[in-house]
Amino acid sequence: MTPTDPSPDRNQRRVATDGGVSTTDDAESTSDPTEADGDSEKLVDVSSSFTVSDDDEDRPQAAETAIETRDLDVYYGDEQALQSVSMEIPEKQVTALIGPSGCGKSTFLRCLNRMNDLIDIANVDGEVRFEGKNIYDEDVDPVALRRKIGMVFQQPNPFPKSIYDNVAFGLEVQDEAVTDETVRRALERAALLEEVDGRLDESGLELSGGQQQRLCIARAIAPDPEVILMDEPASALDPVATSKIEDLIADLSEEYTVIIVTHNMQQAARISDKTAVFLTGGELVEYDDTKDIFENPDNQRVEDYITGKFG
Ligand SMILES: Nc1ncnc2c1ncn2[C@@H]1O[C@H](COP(=O)(O)OP(=O)(O)O)[C@@H](O)[C@H]1O
Ligand SMILES: [Mg+2]
Repeated sequence: MTPTDPSPDRNQRRVATDGGVSTTDDAESTSDPTEADGDSEKLVDVSSSFTVSDDDEDRPQAAETAIETRDLDVYYGDEQALQSVSMEIPEKQVTALIGPSGCGKSTFLRCLNRMNDLIDIANVDGEVRFEGKNIYDEDVDPVALRRKIGMVFQQPNPFPKSIYDNVAFGLEVQDEAVTDETVRRALERAALLEEVDGRLDESGLELSGGQQQRLCIARAIAPDPEVILMDEPASALDPVATSKIEDLIADLSEEYTVIIVTHNMQQAARISDKTAVFLTGGELVEYDDTKDIFENPDNQRVEDYITGKFG
């Protein structure tokens, strides 16, 4: 597997990172003669509006790639929703997918564990490489795949069952043994156990929105996946609950690869290591370290988007 971030040197790193992204703008930006020494001139004045997480020291220098997409196209009937997206997503980091509504973020996320299989008119072309294999190969079982690549949605969706059974479901659906220990451990890793201990037999629907979302995260991590996909997991929550989810995501990324869609750019800046910017038409326009995307994007349209000129 290709290291995604092999060198602290900026130019080398850019080459390595851009190697995983195919966009028509790459050719322009890398041949720009002002590029090599133009970093400081190009600095976008967004540092005051975005707080970029600076706890990079404890990140692995050269993360392995967890998932790689190659020339991924998605169509809904005749409408193309993703255009040839190639991207290497590092393991045990947080990768944020941002961009205006309708640009294909959810579509891309769903491709990563074949949730688009469930949409009749969706057609996926290209490859998603995971553990040395294309997940769209005929012999891949989507249910087994989703044990390794779990998903959490925007609207907390616990079942009308007890807290315990909600988590147990995550294990049962994968034919894994349900024990009190595995259920409690999942609740603990989802930062919920303390709040619900002693009442695991109460309905999951009795919990607050933020607790319900953490319950859904517990359900997703119970079978101990490798990757967790999250589609705007905090956008239905109040600020306090959102902040708990953000803290939890940071913790989870020590053990899991987290890929999160968010329409909240501050959130992406706060919690992610890498940011991918999709723009209208389902094009991945820029993908880089979060700090570079928010402080010094290569692409003018990305700069316009993150400085609020559109979107
Ligand atoms: N189930 C679907 N059926 C038909 N078109 C869809 C479906 N889901 C998404 N689309 C279309 O695909 C495009 C990308 O949508 P989506 O991935 O939901 O974008 P985002 O998550 O960035 O808002 C949009 O034009 C949307 O209307
Ligand atoms: Mg969406």
